[in-house]
Amino acid sequence: MSDGHVWGARLSPEEVERVAVAMLERGLLQGERAVVVHDLERMRARVRELTRRFPPGTLHAIAVKANPLVAVLRAAVEVGAGLECASLEEVHLALAAGCPPDKIVFDSPAKTLEELEFGLARGLHLNLDNFDELARVDALRGRLPAAPGVVGLRINPGVSAGAIAITSVGSRGSRFGVALASERGAILDAFRRRPWLTGLHVHVGSQGCSIEQLTDAAARTHALADAIDAELGRDQVRALDLGGGLPTAYLASDAPPSLADYTRALAERVPALMSGARRLVTEFGRAVQAGCGLAISRVEYVKPADGGELAVLHLGADFLMRAVYHPQDWRHEFIALDASGRRKHGPSRPVTLLGPLCFGGDVIARAVELPALTPGDLIAIRDVGAYTLSLWSRHCNRGLPRVLGLERDGAFTVLRERERPEDVVSFWSEP
Ligand SMILES: Cc1ncc(COP(=O)(O)O)c(C=O)c1O
Repeated sequence: MSDGHVWGARLSPEEVERVAVAMLERGLLQGERAVVVHDLERMRARVRELTRRFPPGTLHAIAVKANPLVAVLRAAVEVGAGLECASLEEVHLALAAGCPPDKIVFDSPAKTLEELEFGLARGLHLNLDNFDELARVDALRGRLPAAPGVVGLRINPGVSAGAIAITSVGSRGSRFGVALASERGAILDAFRRRPWLTGLHVHVGSQGCSIEQLTDAAARTHALADAIDAELGRDQVRALDLGGGLPTAYLASDAPPSLADYTRALAERVPALMSGARRLVTEFGRAVQAGCGLAISRVEYVKPADGGELAVLHLGADFLMRAVYHPQDWRHEFIALDASGRRKHGPSRPVTLLGPLCFGGDVIARAVELPALTPGDLIAIRDVGAYTLSLWSRHCNRGLPRVLGLERDGAFTVLRERERPEDVVSFWSEP
């Protein structure tokens, strides 16, 4: 692969060691309890692969909710990506990252009238969640000068449920979108009465979705678009937004489909979809970002425990919210490093990795087999580039860690400085 990275390739233990040693040699961990690194070149390679594997003209709107760092978003935009936004605030992050408005997909399920007006006036690609939202846009369009952006309707395709309940949203009964099974007639009618409604949107979940579920949803959406056009006797549905949801590997035993597997399955199942006749939009977050992120925490204390050890780290439920509160669904792998960043070897023992928060449940992993640890060692947490910083929690009020970007030549840039105690004081202070 010309980019040197294959879709889904994780930062290997050797690469993790190289990054840690280089950071320490350059003093970038000096005075830090923990640091997060995002491999920007790896991320750009993934965006470029998306561009290569989908028809020309496809808009790849990377989900801001996966990783909202403006520098990360800007790096994606610079290689041609758009951005998918789940709130007005994310739209502003996208604009701050230099994303052209027509490449911003505004998807929030709770848009206010003011937010809809902003999106229409700025020419964003708006995906509407329900018929009431559609009625609000009817009213706004009467008042606004011609709105240039695409407006689409999210449907719930009613495919089978994904493996992770809280992130599975494309099966019957899901709270998002208009149910295709029960509202087909109303959907057709909505398009009939609004020639400006030109998009369909579907998103079935995040992690835990199979290729079959993703392609099934795409096929149903495509068939609906054909049915609308046939029924209305005009080419009205011009944009098909397939959402995100391509899974990624967190464990060595995970074998998620590659991007090539997915695009091949789409082309086989719905050849017309990949013909380029209608404009496609994708909204990947996790599969692009997760494997680009690495966190390194100092080991602060090591305590004996029944049958093993407890190691106190500086990242816990504040950073790995899902892994701490839903460990049955979300897990990471860890690498033990010494104080100079070299991998530790030697007989392993079960170590429970504790976060720094002052509550008993702040455990990021139980009984992980690791070499003996001592205070001052480092623990690398793999695949933390998505849904970690963006889920940051203020519980116990520790500051966000410093975030570094890793460039192709091995150089580091600061993407975000650590929050200092005074930043936290100001966050909680009256104006
Ligand atoms: C509407 C929408 N699009 C895209 C995504 C991104 O999903 P993923 O990060 O799994 O690709 C999400 C996340 O749940 C979403 O809700």
